[in-house]
Amino acid sequence: MSIKMRFLLSYVGVIFFSIILLLTAGFLIIFAITGDAKSIESLYKKTYVQKPLTTEEESIFLDLKLLAKNNAKQLLNENEIRSFEQEDIQIVVRKGMKIEYASPSLDRQVLDQSLPRFEKTNINTRDTIKMNNTFFTYVKFDFYFPDKKEGSIFVLRKASSYTELIREFFPILSGLLLILFIMIIGIVNYFVSRSIIKPLDHLKKAAEKIASGDLDFAIKSTSQDEIGQLNGAFEEMRSRLKKSVNIQIQYEENRKELLSNISHDLKTPMTSIIGYMEGIKDGVANTPEKMEKYVSTVYVKAKDMDSLIDELFLFSKLDLKKEPFHFEMVELNTYLEDYVEKLYLDQGIRMELHLLYHPIYVRADREKLKRVLANVINNCVKYMDKDEKIISISLHERIEDLMVQITDNGKGIESVALPFIFERFYRAEQSRNSQTGGSGLGLAIAKQIIVEHGGEIWATSEVGKGTSICFSLRKGDNR
Ligand SMILES: Nc1ncnc2c1ncn2[C@@H]1O[C@H](COP(=O)(O)OP(=O)(O)OP(=O)(O)O)[C@@H](O)[C@H]1O
Ligand SMILES: [Mg+2]
Repeated sequence: MSIKMRFLLSYVGVIFFSIILLLTAGFLIIFAITGDAKSIESLYKKTYVQKPLTTEEESIFLDLKLLAKNNAKQLLNENEIRSFEQEDIQIVVRKGMKIEYASPSLDRQVLDQSLPRFEKTNINTRDTIKMNNTFFTYVKFDFYFPDKKEGSIFVLRKASSYTELIREFFPILSGLLLILFIMIIGIVNYFVSRSIIKPLDHLKKAAEKIASGDLDFAIKSTSQDEIGQLNGAFEEMRSRLKKSVNIQIQYEENRKELLSNISHDLKTPMTSIIGYMEGIKDGVANTPEKMEKYVSTVYVKAKDMDSLIDELFLFSKLDLKKEPFHFEMVELNTYLEDYVEKLYLDQGIRMELHLLYHPIYVRADREKLKRVLANVINNCVKYMDKDEKIISISLHERIEDLMVQITDNGKGIESVALPFIFERFYRAEQSRNSQTGGSGLGLAIAKQIIVEHGGEIWATSEVGKGTSICFSLRKGDNR
């Protein structure tokens, strides 16, 4: 069953049961008061069909009735009748067709036409009449004068026209009210269900779109209520799903690119190895010098391939988190000093070291950290284009961590290339076979290692002036 239908049914149910309960309660009250179920019917009649009299009217009417029965002649005595009259209560005495007495405020002519005729049985004694646009409730008693002429006495009271109308139309009015009630419920149902069902419908369509793989849209929530929150949750789900799909696509792209880069980087030295080997086979290297040159070239190319495969292997192990790390507390000042001392650098490169004046500890894997330093310093050397070659390593203490900065005065990196240098296989100069050629894995490996240490790595550079590679390491406990 649809929610719309359920709402409707629940509203109809509420109306139905409230009416039943109201009627039962009314019935019970009347029953408790009168102790008789039938009296309910007579109560209605008394209340609405036989117009009720006020106590004054009742007593005046009874007195007049008594007079009519015992001493009807007295009814023709104007003074006698006038003594009965009270404010708001008018009396009329009729003998035959002639009005013998009528309270002064009443118009005799109109009375003649409006008052009901004589009725021997005295059954319809109470009703309402309209005279000169005014409603009167009356009570009547018909009798015979001693001279056998028909006589009637009327006690009239002005009734509010609204009261009379309401009395007259009570059953219709209550029916109308019921219809109005049902209509209001219907309208309320429409608006309530619209405010719930419409957004749910939107959500359903959105979910269907997501299911069919379309994630390029936004689910807007128009309200703050539960439905709005549901919309928000769906939107969150959609955007996360989209992100993860994008990442998946990116991974797939990367995988393809990686495969093509590896093939390319392995193919190049392999082609030259094959070329030189064919030369040897075909007897092109026909002198011992030529042979020596060919063999050593093959050897160098094979070594290149070997180190590339090593780099690739390390990178993929780091990527898969399969490379074990042996963390220990390392005093960074001594560590860097030792590293630089053992570093073999070409003549003509000046190495500067700026350390801290107090021991500082980090939790690090000595070998892996060495690899980071080596990869960064290799680049400094490789991309150096000045006569006066300077590489400086400086250590900075920050609140949370330590920063190692390695700066060179080499050729620098174009700002467009800067954001990508830590990506695998990325090389600022795209020709992969240049003199400075490498695989583009050096900084990617350094980044993997630093991230595994819980730090960050970044670069700043100015073309023509030099490059700074910085990385942070978390402080360890001083010991
Ligand atoms: N100190 C530097 N000065 C100028 N350019 C640099 C420097 N360090 C890195 N680069 C640029 O960043 C790119 C990526 O460096 P990365 O070390 O990852 O690769 P590579 O040096 O080309 O190859 P590999 O290190 O694997 O032999 C380099 O190709 C180079 O263009
Ligand atoms: Mg490098």
